[in-house]
Amino acid sequence: MQAVQPPRKMAPIDPHSYTDSSHPLTTRISLSFYFDFPSSTIVSSALFSLSATHSGPFALDTRSLSISAVLDPQTLAALAFSVHPASPDTVLGQSLIVTLANHSQFLVISKTSPSSTALQWLSPPQTFNKAFPFVYTQCQSIHARSIFPCQDTPAARIRYSAKLNIPHYLSAVMAAKHVDRRNPIAGECLGVCDDSIWCGDGRIVEEFVMEQSVPPYLFAFAVGELGFREMGPRTRVYSESVPGVLDSAAREFAGTEEMIKVGEGLFGPYEWERFDLLVLPPSFPYAGMENPRMVFLTPTVIKGDATGARVVAHELAHSWTGNLITNKSNDHFWLNEGFTTYADRRIVEAVQGKERAVLNIGIGWRGLVEEMDRFKDNMEFTKLKTNQEGVDPDNVYSRVPYEKGFQFLWRIERQIGRPAFDEFLKKYIATFKFQSIDTDTFLDFLKVNIPGIENHIDLKVWTEGTGIPPDAMEPASDIYKKIVFLANEFKLGRMPNEDEVTDWVGQEWELYLENLPKSVEASQVLALDARYRLSESKDYEVKVAFLRLAILSRCSNYYGEAEKTLKEVGRMKYLRLLYAALVQGPGKEEEKIFAKRVFSEARACYHPIAQGVVEAILAKHM
Ligand code: BES
Ligand code: ZN
Repeated sequence: MQAVQPPRKMAPIDPHSYTDSSHPLTTRISLSFYFDFPSSTIVSSALFSLSATHSGPFALDTRSLSISAVLDPQTLAALAFSVHPASPDTVLGQSLIVTLANHSQFLVISKTSPSSTALQWLSPPQTFNKAFPFVYTQCQSIHARSIFPCQDTPAARIRYSAKLNIPHYLSAVMAAKHVDRRNPIAGECLGVCDDSIWCGDGRIVEEFVMEQSVPPYLFAFAVGELGFREMGPRTRVYSESVPGVLDSAAREFAGTEEMIKVGEGLFGPYEWERFDLLVLPPSFPYAGMENPRMVFLTPTVIKGDATGARVVAHELAHSWTGNLITNKSNDHFWLNEGFTTYADRRIVEAVQGKERAVLNIGIGWRGLVEEMDRFKDNMEFTKLKTNQEGVDPDNVYSRVPYEKGFQFLWRIERQIGRPAFDEFLKKYIATFKFQSIDTDTFLDFLKVNIPGIENHIDLKVWTEGTGIPPDAMEPASDIYKKIVFLANEFKLGRMPNEDEVTDWVGQEWELYLENLPKSVEASQVLALDARYRLSESKDYEVKVAFLRLAILSRCSNYYGEAEKTLKEVGRMKYLRLLYAALVQGPGKEEEKIFAKRVFSEARACYHPIAQGVVEAILAKHM
């Protein structure tokens, strides 16, 4: 292959992508995937269509992919390509530079590696039924590039179609419209492999199409032994085909259609046709991921008390704020999560009542205050508009964009009143839908539509300043105040009485625990648990908040339970809290050795993104 000059980053449009501002954006990709479970790899072909013809170098993002060919799709002539830098950038990966000559289309054949960061491959023993393998994606924020080469920036919204060639005893779902399940056809795989392999015994093709343009981070699939339950006119819940899991999921999420209707009333039409849910194995690294048409969920939210509904409300809210209007780059991530946090609380308020919504705001407020402490030496990440040049978004993921973003919008709502704010929100969504925007675009729209707002709210302080602005607001409700009061009493040595907590569910305990001092006397930890059995809670939010308190209080009685928890769930929120509690602070030699051992034993069960995040926490403190 002819040598190509290494790229100079001419005018990047996104600190997390090699996409160049002088290059046309991709508008459509036709994908074919051949899943090879024994080697945990996928061979793929991707046919790119660009918004304009292009000549000269053209840059795509990749991570741990091997590229075997780039072809002109008409003539099948090879096109020159090269991959840079030779040793991958730890954040960006590598750029694939293709040399085009007046092309608006080209074809890339590539193969994933077993360590592709977007993919978790589960062997049969790691699944519920223990009989079949399972694989699923998590692409946000910058992992799509580890499945196939792409302009992996949310500025490049794409439509796509996909053919997934899988073993016949498995089925596939995607965040896209299902078109067909059928036998493979010779000649259709565009160079992925020989027809004899593509059409081999026991292979089946599942076809999908995504006709609404989406940022690459919303690309998603799962393949396994899947089943589903019908839940409503546009909703099914899918999971591994285990009747117990499917039934409890169907019960937990029964109110979904009602929430979609509430969302439509508040934010305008639901544009994605279907709203299906997929419950993943416990190693799923998030509570939920808003993949369009098919939200991905951790099984840990299924507790039989409708807490799962809160997570569904959040992922559903992304259907308007996030999936319809995306941030142009991760520097403006608050536009995505801050708006969604505001929108999810509006849905929760409508469905579960004001008290619940206020409690969520209170838990969020505590979280925000804590993050200020976490970032006290790196205040950049306490801003709404951030500079993430050279920064791995997974390592600075925090509640700041969620909660400070929420506070900013809530502040505007208080200024102009709810009816005016509702109207503004609907207009904002209708104006920018299917676009990717930045903070300034939002601020310009705000100033035009709410004239004089800048005279009442310091927009610069809110979007560019560090810390919590003075006009942010801690919520007030009777239950919120009572919980904070009781937590303060604990500092004086008084535990809540049984009759004070009789109607508490997980969220009340979560708020209570979050308001306790970071560490207390070990004897107090033991006494609290003796009375309320928090270490045995089925609610991981409560259990993990308690175990963290125990670890920070050096109460080693609970290290065994912490180890068990770290080995049964892979949700990153819990991994971050527990591993950080173990290794942070002076004189933690024993805990560090313990954390290292647990991680080495549990690592293989974590999603690659979670592995990376835990490694970063341990490295920082070792
Ligand atoms: N989009 C996020 C998850 C995410 C963020 C994945 C950044 C990768 C990078 C999702 O909508 C989310 O916010 N999930 C929350 C749950 C929610 C109820 C706040 C989570 O998983 O904790
Ligand atoms: Zn979210």
